Amino acid sequence: MNDVLKVAVIGGDGTGPEVVAEGVKVLKKVAELENFKVELTPFDLSGDRYLKTGVIITDEELAELGKFSSILLGAVGHPDVKPGILEQGLLLRLRFAFDQYINLRPVKLFPGVETPLANKKPEDLDFVVVRENTEDMYVGTGGWMKKGTPDEVATQVAVYTRKGTERCIRWAFEYCRKRNNPKGKMVTMVAKTNVLSYGHDLWMRTFQEVGEEYPDIKKDYNHVDACCMWMVKNPEHYDVIVTTNMFGDIITDLAGILQGGMGVAAGGNINPEPGGTSMYEPMGGSAPKYTGMNVINPIATINAVSMLLSQEGYTKAADRVMKAIQTVTGTKMKSMAAGKMGYSTTEVGDLVCEYL
Ligand code: IPM
Ligand code: MN
Repeated sequence: MNDVLKVAVIGGDGTGPEVVAEGVKVLKKVAELENFKVELTPFDLSGDRYLKTGVIITDEELAELGKFSSILLGAVGHPDVKPGILEQGLLLRLRFAFDQYINLRPVKLFPGVETPLANKKPEDLDFVVVRENTEDMYVGTGGWMKKGTPDEVATQVAVYTRKGTERCIRWAFEYCRKRNNPKGKMVTMVAKTNVLSYGHDLWMRTFQEVGEEYPDIKKDYNHVDACCMWMVKNPEHYDVIVTTNMFGDIITDLAGILQGGMGVAAGGNINPEPGGTSMYEPMGGSAPKYTGMNVINPIATINAVSMLLSQEGYTKAADRVMKAIQTVTGTKMKSMAAGKMGYSTTEVGDLVCEYL
């Protein structure tokens, strides 16, 4: 916690700038109420800029961003840019450049939010996924042989290191301890040890060894396919899930829809080391068809702001934002879907400020 919270802001593409504006509005308001200063620095990184200049991000901009401990990111993805270019050139580039080895995805059903699960209530859906964020199939190792011929061979290598595995698992245990779930502390490792017998064996051995340092926390394991079933059938089972990058990507989309979808879910790309640069984002994409219409749901971004505050040590401010979100979803908004909220994007931001 600092006297001045300095945040780099990347609106990005599509509706990104609109939702980020509401996140910033709430951030400024809570800072005023909690008596600390926020300093915001915008960065113009987007598909539009790429189309105009051919540049996604310069080394200088990357170095500039690296001076911040927190970045708030709106959305990455432009309909006129080939899929993968911006995702890899910006989002994954930042994750790797800043070694943001934790992808934190809280899964919480807010009051008033509809879940596709029958008979599940907010108290049944409250867990977090800690996804490793720098290894696995995301490392970009692999290649082609005889490309374009009938004999083509392609490899895409999943890389797991002891260091990368251990730092993620240890962080998950520490997070679980801090979270201190009144229903009992438990970390569930999700992997596929029955098939991925090298990499996920490393994960399992590391999980067991690190787990011994946390006798107060129950250790649990699910294969990833079974986890998908349990998450739908008995989501109340989970407290903290720790998993690999690729499986984490998939199960957090499942978890995201269970908590009400794109309008609500947020993620943090965290480098927890001293001096590390972390990045917080709503999970929804750039939603080009809603751009500029003031109809997109900003709750996910405001949720990301609460996570940012919490990771920066502004715990009271983070809780205040979280409570205000829940009042607004529980007593005001008609739906979490774009255009069906009963309010505009800016009005939802105003409402959250009002209930802070
Ligand atoms: C996510 C996204 C990214 C990922 C894409 C956009 C590269 O799906 O943040 O989960 O796969 O990690
Ligand atoms: Mn994803």
